[in-house]
Amino acid sequence: METITNTVVPSNTTTDFLPLQGTDYVEFYVGNAKQAAHFYKTAFGFQSLAYAGPETGVKDRASYAVRQNKLTFVFTTALRTDNSIADHVYKHGDGVKMLALKVEDATDAWKQTTQRGGKSYMEPQRFTDDAGEVVISGIHTYGDTVHLFIERKNYEGVFLPGYRKWESHYNPSETGLLYVDHCVGNVGWNQMNPWVKFYEEVMGFKNILSFDDNDISTEYSALMSKVMSNGNGFVKFPINEPAEGKKKSQVEEYLDFYNGEGCQHVALATSDIVQTVTALQNRGVEFLKVPNSYYDDLLDRVGHIDEDLSPLRELGILVDRDDEGYLLQIFTKPVEDRPTLFFEIIQRKGAKSFGKGNFKALFEAIEREQESRGNL
Ligand code: FE2
Repeated sequence: METITNTVVPSNTTTDFLPLQGTDYVEFYVGNAKQAAHFYKTAFGFQSLAYAGPETGVKDRASYAVRQNKLTFVFTTALRTDNSIADHVYKHGDGVKMLALKVEDATDAWKQTTQRGGKSYMEPQRFTDDAGEVVISGIHTYGDTVHLFIERKNYEGVFLPGYRKWESHYNPSETGLLYVDHCVGNVGWNQMNPWVKFYEEVMGFKNILSFDDNDISTEYSALMSKVMSNGNGFVKFPINEPAEGKKKSQVEEYLDFYNGEGCQHVALATSDIVQTVTALQNRGVEFLKVPNSYYDDLLDRVGHIDEDLSPLRELGILVDRDDEGYLLQIFTKPVEDRPTLFFEIIQRKGAKSFGKGNFKALFEAIEREQESRGNL
């Protein structure tokens, strides 16, 4: 049995040069935004929020914004081939392009990060409409992924200037998803530490947890991971890199099929994981399954939990404990045909960690999937 020793190191109290108010939205570049938005409404319970495209004066793309509580996803597709969005989809398939962060001052966020070595994606730019003004700037992170800084304190519109309200007569109910808990990046061999340094130096994040290949390995494959957090803990970015094993690391499979570094999974918080996962499964979301034996000695490993064991076993929900409490989590299968992006559903009951006690069972489940694709 594994002893659970990982605790979250509190960040120190020096002034935060990049105060972040949380994740503003996650934007996906996809092959077909209309259908992607429909899938996230149907399967995940997002609600129609806003639309931008030729009808709103945007000529090269169409974007659909959907929302559920504090979660906002945007699906953007290119309308023509000679276009950077089309190039992104050609290279990576559907995936996360923008991890947009909410800030008080997007001009200062850009100045602070670019003067610390961040590579500019977009200088601070003002966008206005009848509902006010939004300032957006951005820097590049791993792969072709971008952090946008969104300043919306002077804006009352539905989403962003350029968008109009998206009214739909098709409004499936929500599934209890609340906000982004963390977003994980997969980077190449020996690239974890350089990206840890980027988050420390350019964005003022702290490394709050580290996992080496002894923590995260199965008989066949391995990876390493470091969790980066901003000062107030609202934004957490674990960074994974592959490690040597007998067979191919799941991170390598991702890198092959995404054709480079990128976002591996987005963890979505719920306050009732049994209800949320029941709803998601009923709507066709597919989850990784661990062997039933995982549950036989679960309570010996994690101690008392408030939930009944049987729905957890039935749904395949995993449990882990750290010094501060416990968490419940489950992982979807990839949400597109390439084995790249997936989602985690997480309910925290005090625990601030990431489910280290589940890594082995989980990665064995991932390997069974890799094997079935012929990629192990
Ligand atoms: Fe995660």
